[in-house]
Amino acid sequence: MMSTDRRDFLKLSASAGAALGLGLGTRARAAAESPAFPSGGGVASRAKNVLILGGTGFIGPYEVRSLLHMGMNVTLFNRGNRPGMFPGVEELVGDRNGDFESLRGRTWDVVVDNSTARPDWVTSIGEFLRDSTETFHYVSSRSAYASHAAVPMTSAESTWTFEGAELDRATADITRLPYGLAKAESERELMRIFGDRYVIFRPGLIVGPDDPTYRFTYWPVRIRQGGEVLCPGDGTDTVQVIDVRDLGDFMALSAAAGHQAQQFNLVGPLTPRPVAEMVYGIRAVTTAETTFTWVDTGFLTERGIRGYAELPVWRPPVEGAQGFAKFDLRNEVAHGLTFRSLADTTKATLESFFSQPVDERPPRRAALTREREAEVLAEWHSR
Ligand SMILES: NC(=O)c1ccc[n+]([C@@H]2O[C@H](COP(=O)([O-])OP(=O)(O)OC[C@H]3O[C@@H](n4cnc5c(N)ncnc54)[C@H](OP(=O)(O)O)[C@@H]3O)[C@@H](O)[C@H]2O)c1
Repeated sequence: MMSTDRRDFLKLSASAGAALGLGLGTRARAAAESPAFPSGGGVASRAKNVLILGGTGFIGPYEVRSLLHMGMNVTLFNRGNRPGMFPGVEELVGDRNGDFESLRGRTWDVVVDNSTARPDWVTSIGEFLRDSTETFHYVSSRSAYASHAAVPMTSAESTWTFEGAELDRATADITRLPYGLAKAESERELMRIFGDRYVIFRPGLIVGPDDPTYRFTYWPVRIRQGGEVLCPGDGTDTVQVIDVRDLGDFMALSAAAGHQAQQFNLVGPLTPRPVAEMVYGIRAVTTAETTFTWVDTGFLTERGIRGYAELPVWRPPVEGAQGFAKFDLRNEVAHGLTFRSLADTTKATLESFFSQPVDERPPRRAALTREREAEVLAEWHSR
């Protein structure tokens, strides 16, 4: 359930921005002034028509915001569960499970597909829209790669296959494939249907304001509480994430620029960030008295404290994952990818988290509790 604050913010963004001819509100305009935000000027020779399949969850609204900022005409297609999020943006109601009637007879320059893990959804709507769009953009994932062993990782690395996942294509349930395989299959489907008329975005962990998960958010919230914070390894393992606003900006830029036949890895920053830099950078945004205790990865593993779970964002560079947070992003940067500062992301994450009513905040799931953290720290000190 979306918080009232957020719905109001998004409405404000669209209506205040519309009044200014920008499609952006106060916070968004502030972001637009930052050099990290790509300028709309001169990229698109005319306003392109963009259809977003989805658009009202986590990443969709930030795509809309950036597209509007770049002067595009935006249409949303979804079941209409959250209508009116962006006044003035056309909304078409339908269902990815076969109800495409509202799309019939229309044409677009770019269709953006945010759907999660259903290759059959890409097949059905891709075939329906094959001749109705110039280009099809698909939000895949870093998880589409069958291995993250390469250092650095690039889009040339192989993605999951049925064989690699030890599944039989003939008998596997296409609607319930493992996430990475579902993304890789979806990518292959869109390339089959659209030839070169595609762009694939492979984000890593998407973070920042409105993040519905308690993953990156764990670190700013925990560090802001102060005291002794348990941190993994010796601080040199790297992390790469993408701020949802940078994702939206780059996807809008890509639509405006008319990219085709491209796979983009969307993480950052360009130089992978050591965990120590991440936690000290987050601390710099708070006023808490916080110290960091670095605990050996093996010691953590023995106690069931796993990377990307109890300690989110970080993943130890074990065999097969050495390149997980070591992507070579020079191609993406050459195509316009920019990165907001860690301070900006942290501040926006905290503002967003604490602006939500307590019972609407992202669920903690696997992330460490204060009690478990204290137990493990006590064991570490007495070892
Ligand atoms: N979070 C991460 O760290 C991360 C990392 C890598 C990749 N990704 C990928 O990023 C994407 C995240 O997407 P998001 O949820 O934020 O996107 P979104 O486009 O903002 O929200 C999901 C949209 O899908 C619509 N929808 C759901 N079921 C539908 C149906 N049966 N028919 C038509 N529309 C339907 C929803 O609206 P209605 O309910 O009104 O239908 C909503 O607008 C996913 O593809 C995910 O795999 C995420």
